[in-house]
Amino acid sequence: MDELLEWRKEFPSLETSVHMISHSLGAMPRRAAERLAEYAEVWTRRGIRAWEEGWWEMPRSVGNLIGKIIGAGEGEVVMVPNVSAGQSIVNSCFDWSGPRNQVVCDSLQFPSNLYIYEALERQGARLVAVPPEELLAAIGHQTRLVSISHVSFRSSLVLDLAAITRRAHEAGALVVADIYQSAGTLPLNVRELGVDFATGGSVKWLCGGPGAGYLYVRQDLWPSLRPAATGWMAHRAPFTFEPAMEYAEDAFRFLNGTPSVPAMYAARSGYEIIGQAGVERIRAKSIRQTGRLIELAEEAGFRVNSPRDPARRGGVVVIDAPNGQAVTRELLRRDFLVDYRPGAGIRVAPHFYTTDEELDLTVHEMRKIVGQ
Ligand SMILES: Cc1ncc(COP(=O)(O)O)c(C=O)c1O
Repeated sequence: MDELLEWRKEFPSLETSVHMISHSLGAMPRRAAERLAEYAEVWTRRGIRAWEEGWWEMPRSVGNLIGKIIGAGEGEVVMVPNVSAGQSIVNSCFDWSGPRNQVVCDSLQFPSNLYIYEALERQGARLVAVPPEELLAAIGHQTRLVSISHVSFRSSLVLDLAAITRRAHEAGALVVADIYQSAGTLPLNVRELGVDFATGGSVKWLCGGPGAGYLYVRQDLWPSLRPAATGWMAHRAPFTFEPAMEYAEDAFRFLNGTPSVPAMYAARSGYEIIGQAGVERIRAKSIRQTGRLIELAEEAGFRVNSPRDPARRGGVVVIDAPNGQAVTRELLRRDFLVDYRPGAGIRVAPHFYTTDEELDLTVHEMRKIVGQ
């Protein structure tokens, strides 16, 4: 008996499609629509007063729900629009003109992060992008920041964040982890891992929709960090409208302008459901179902481009079927939701609401499309 399937009724779209795409877009919780209606109602009824009655605090109050999922303490996570913004805020905390100017990155990262670090070279940074297995050796006394994805969006490879963080700290560098592809499907504890920064978003495993990114910063670093990517919300007394910047003492110092209030309303339900379902249980099911998917894909003669070792595999199985892009288009037409990444293959991901039957159905449909 799979108790997690009880959650299916909270996700209406699961009745009309086979949802194997939570690495890209999690299914929408029924409650998210209610929360958006609540937002509209509060805006209408309370008008400007809504800011004082919760909206202003939302980057933190909603961040606390994420904090519970990723092992951060109260007030240690703030909401930002997306990961790209989170990364830019982090790297704007440093002076890149001195000798310690290296950003060591895993080259399998989401390209957005790589673009941001490449652009940082204009400020004197030096980007060193290496495959995950070369990361430890690439970190040295010139490294300021190590930037890695906890789980690769391309292959689903899980990186050893603890080992990388230890090595970075030995070398005097800090670590920013992109946890978008792990939070909500892989248990993680940012405090125990010791990472200095972590950023992610809500569109995928957290079933929270767009516009609700988040940023965790290790608390003892706060006083020393003064992000250049800033704004009035980061001021210690924003409503004094002082012309000179004095950073907030708390995590608001990492914010900038007006927060995305409707996005945060929409996102909360996903965090609550993931929190209640429990990431440990979600992970156990994911390991079982991704393992089964690999078996089914291989039985069908497809190549699998994801790690076999469950400990090194995130929530996605990348299946390299012939004409993957066209097969993906046809799957979508038939209401099998998956996606395709060039150089990798068709990304297929069960989540806590997936039935075992849907695994069989998906591979069966792929076989039909390729004519096997
Ligand atoms: C690992 C990872 N990081 C970052 C992103 C994108 O981040 P954002 O659009 O929030 O900047 C994605 C996917 O969209 C991703 O898979």
